[in-house]
Amino acid sequence: MNALVVHFSKFGHTQKIANAVADTLADRVDVKTISSDQLTTGQLKEADLVVMGTPTHNMNLPKAVQPVFEKLPKKVLPGTPVAAFDTSYKMSAILARFTAAKRLARMLRKLGGKLILSPETFYVKEREGPLYDGELERAKDWGGKILEQFQT
Ligand SMILES: Cc1cc2nc3c(=O)[nH]c(=O)nc-3n(C[C@H](O)[C@H](O)[C@H](O)COP(=O)(O)O)c2cc1C
Repeated sequence: MNALVVHFSKFGHTQKIANAVADTLADRVDVKTISSDQLTTGQLKEADLVVMGTPTHNMNLPKAVQPVFEKLPKKVLPGTPVAAFDTSYKMSAILARFTAAKRLARMLRKLGGKLILSPETFYVKEREGPLYDGELERAKDWGGKILEQFQT
């Protein structure tokens, strides 16, 4: 089984979360971790599980990530299990409706992916970080939940 963990990270914190998730996935499956600018159609087609994470920028995906989806063929993830996360500030419930993770989940589903877990957010204290204490551990646990859903 091949898992692909795709991330975009401006200041490095989303990448740290991606690595923590990938560490847990690696207990059970082969994992490749790449940045979104390296993503190819072939990698998506080969993956049995796709996890994608970016920071939330202006209540949306970072501008650099939007073209990644535009170049992918339709339904490149037919029924492939997918999960999405982001990093952001702790927000009010109203603003928390607009996270990159929710947007990513929608984009991955549009490509045919089957969302196996709710989109998750990991929190930074300030724009350039750091992450709140315990977020890397929470990311490892979230990787475990992905595995549970993936294997049932
Ligand atoms: C241009 C820009 C816009 C941002 N907009 C938001 C936002 O709308 N909501 C939010 O919670 N955080 C926002 N942030 C904070 C980012 O979420 C934070 O920089 C990110 O989690 C750090 O992750 P990284 O180290 O992977 O870049 C923004 C950051 C930047 C640079």
